[in-house]
Amino acid sequence: MLLSSLLKVVVASLCLGSIIAQKVTQDPQQMLVQEKEDVTLDCTYDTSDSSYSLFWYKQPSSGAIIFLLLQDSYSKQNATEGCYSLNFQKARKSITLVISASQLEDSAVYFCALRETTVRRT
Ligand SMILES: *[C@@H]1O[C@H](CO)[C@@H](O)[C@H](O)[C@H]1NC(C)=O
Repeated sequence: MLLSSLLKVVVASLCLGSIIAQKVTQDPQQMLVQEKEDVTLDCTYDTSDSSYSLFWYKQPSSGAIIFLLLQDSYSKQNATEGCYSLNFQKARKSITLVISASQLEDSAVYFCALRETTVRRT
């Protein structure tokens, strides 16, 4: 008998190094995915900085926060690592994480984070 497994993916937002909390928006908030399906997690952000970095993290039920991918704003290529890849659309301020051929271990909370890196004088 074949049992199909569902994994649950939750997304949340972070903004690093900023006192403004809501600069990153993720969609959808929660989804159930059939194992082996590709998972697409959208994240849009808001910044007027000319230089910034975007991060994706994963938090499985163990609680550990695991870094997945980094995309620099000036990079002309989508970052990719193993089963994770990004679709970075700078003009639309959107950074989508794609998990290809998902597995049960991909059940987690996923965080999209923005870090502004323009140097400012204080
Ligand atoms: C990432 O890939 C998408 C889809 O292929 C493409 O439209 C986009 O321009 C790419 N972004 C970068 C920064 O290469």
